Amino acid sequence: MTLFNLGSINLDHFYEVPHLPAPGETLIAESHQTGLGGKGANQSAAAARAGARVVHIGAVGSDGAWAVNRLNELGINTAHISTVKAPTAHAIINVDPAGENAIVVFSGANMKQSLTQLKAALLTAKRGDMLLLQNETNLALEAATLARSLGLKVVYSAAPFNAGATKALLPLTDLLILNAVEMQQLTEATNSEALTPATIVVTEGSKGGYAITPEGEQRFPAFPVKAVDTTGAGDTFTGYLAAALHEGQPLESALRLAAAASALKVTKKGTADAIPSRADVEVFLAAQT
Ligand code: RIB
Repeated sequence: MTLFNLGSINLDHFYEVPHLPAPGETLIAESHQTGLGGKGANQSAAAARAGARVVHIGAVGSDGAWAVNRLNELGINTAHISTVKAPTAHAIINVDPAGENAIVVFSGANMKQSLTQLKAALLTAKRGDMLLLQNETNLALEAATLARSLGLKVVYSAAPFNAGATKALLPLTDLLILNAVEMQQLTEATNSEALTPATIVVTEGSKGGYAITPEGEQRFPAFPVKAVDTTGAGDTFTGYLAAALHEGQPLESALRLAAAASALKVTKKGTADAIPSRADVEVFLAAQT
C-alpha cells in the first residue's frame, strides 16, 4: 500500500526572535537555521517516519537538488518530483521563546506542478492507496478528482486555509484534517452547512482535539511536553495519522499515535528534520500512564 502526497517542498529559514514581530517593527534574530520544510514535505517525512511507503509528487527549481536528496534520505520515493523553471519555494519562520511561530511562504516551484507529471504518478497507484493533499501547491483539485476515479482514499489537510480551495475539495475528501482556527474559518465559509467528508479531525494544540465521524464524536488527548518549537506539529500529526490509518489501525489508536508524534515534534527545533521516528513515538507512548 502506498501513500501518494502532492505536496510543497520548501527551504525553511528559522529565526529565533525575542517575540513575534509587530507591524512596522524591525527585530534582530538571535539565531538562523535552515532545513527541509513545506507542509507537503513535512507530511511525507512524518508518514515515512511512521513506516509508510511514500511517493512524493512535487516540484523544485534548479536550486532544489538538496531537497530531493533529503527526501530520499528520509526514505521517500522522489521519482515524481520534477525540476521546473521557478525557484524552489522557501519559508521565513519566526519562532518566539514559547515556541510559537509566524510563517511567510514564497511558493515558487510549488505552484508549477504539471498535470502530465501528476497523472504519470497517480496512474501507478492501486485501488486502496491514499492521496494526501494540502493547500500549498496547484492541481490539488485535479489530483483529488483523478485519485477518486482510481479508487484512492483522499486525505486533505486544509492548510494554509483557503476557503475556495477547501470548499471545492470537500466533496472529494474522505478525511479532512484541520486545526481549530481553520475549522472556525471553514464553518464560516460554509455557513455551517453539513460538511461532506466521512471523517473530520480537528486539532486543538495542547488541548488535543476531536474527530467527527458518521458514528459520532471522539476526543483524543494531548501529551504534556515542554514546547520549544511548534512549527510542523500539525504536519507531523497529519503524516502520522494518514500512515496509521493506511496501515489499518482503528481511528482511536491512530489519533493517539499522531498526537504523541506531534507532542514529540514540539520538543525539537525544526520541521522535517525534527519529526520523531516511529520507535521513539512508541517508547514515548509506552511511558504514558
Ligand atoms: O507547517 C509548517 C510548514 O509551513 C513549514 O515547514 C513551512 O515551510 C510552511 O510550509
